[in-house]
Amino acid sequence: MRNISILLLFFISITTFSQKAKDVATTPPMGWNSWNTFGTEINEQLVKDIADAFVDLGLRDAGYNYLVLDDGWMAKERDENNNLVPGPNKFPNGMKDVVDYVHSRGLKFGIYNCAGNKTCAGYPGSRGFEYQDAKLYAEWGVDFLKYDWCNTENLNAKGAYQTMRDALYATGRPILFSICEWGDNDPWKWGEEMGHMWRVTGDIINCWDCKVGHGTWSSLGVWPIIKLRKEIRKYTGPGHWNDFDMMEVGNGMTAAEDRVHFAMWSMLSSPLIMGNDLRSASKETIVTLTNKEVIAVNQDELGIQAYCHSDEGELEIWVKPLHNGEWAFAFVNMSKERIEVDYEWNRHPVKDDLSNRELKADHIVYKIRDLYNHKDLGTTKTNLKSDIGSHDVLMLRLVPDIK
Ligand code: GAL
Repeated sequence: MRNISILLLFFISITTFSQKAKDVATTPPMGWNSWNTFGTEINEQLVKDIADAFVDLGLRDAGYNYLVLDDGWMAKERDENNNLVPGPNKFPNGMKDVVDYVHSRGLKFGIYNCAGNKTCAGYPGSRGFEYQDAKLYAEWGVDFLKYDWCNTENLNAKGAYQTMRDALYATGRPILFSICEWGDNDPWKWGEEMGHMWRVTGDIINCWDCKVGHGTWSSLGVWPIIKLRKEIRKYTGPGHWNDFDMMEVGNGMTAAEDRVHFAMWSMLSSPLIMGNDLRSASKETIVTLTNKEVIAVNQDELGIQAYCHSDEGELEIWVKPLHNGEWAFAFVNMSKERIEVDYEWNRHPVKDDLSNRELKADHIVYKIRDLYNHKDLGTTKTNLKSDIGSHDVLMLRLVPDIK
């Protein structure tokens, strides 16, 4: 009897304490992160201004809710009790004050640390302090932790992320856990158990199709990231997402390229984490980022990652099955010239083997909606005729026309 109770206790403790927060990130997380634009130059005023911009620009209403502070928020040393300390010049009123402000604007607050001894920018890492740090974040009211992978010599990735996952869980606060180990240890294979999203590559850079080497690693433009990880579709889904990195929308590509970038992150069911300076964003950038019809594709409850249906020549067609038998399509012009599209729906069978869903344009009529121009384009009974500018996208939603 005693043995049975011990076993039972053991079982209860495993099931109670070893898991990630539930009911978090049931659709891809949406928010903003400081790194792409500000690096370690972050401070209290910036956070407050960005929080205000979320509200004033309609970003909060469009669904963005996590404001995430990346590397550089800490002082260079822990205090005498080994607690992390916010940089005193950057955050003179402490972190709780900032978190409270973000919450008062109806947003959630995210913070960054690293599984190693030091963060990538050289601030104190969490190795050996996981439970202490998690407790501190929970006391501050943190809702999201991005956890990086620098300076982790000899650490086992799955084990290190599990330790932090358990530390977060032990706080009793539902904290979204964002795994950032750059896809080095195939996090998609173990990430679902450990966290809510995982980076699938090294860092993004603001270009359409470039790679920039930094010695041991390279930053990747939008298309190299997509191409590298288009095959890991089956690992993404509600509560656990392939993270294609913070977006570079508004950071220097053309407006058309930004539309493609945003469309593709939405098609891929990637978290939509903005990485631009919201205080000075152009109207066009905000129009792209707040496009509710595109966002609805990203937030579709099925959470299926799009696949490349065809990539002949300069036109790539990406397809994403949506709930209720609906479909999203992205026709992307990869070329430097404008192209004309004349697409006969019946001639191109669309079947997604992963989700076992089929577009039945031969016996169901679908209504077609153009998501960037907010226009109805007729139905699949007639050919789709359109022209698409260089590096631009025609993004569509097909809805069965059932009367
Ligand atoms: C990298 C990470 C970036 C950013 C940076 C901070 O490892 O991929 O997104 O967090 O560290 O130092």
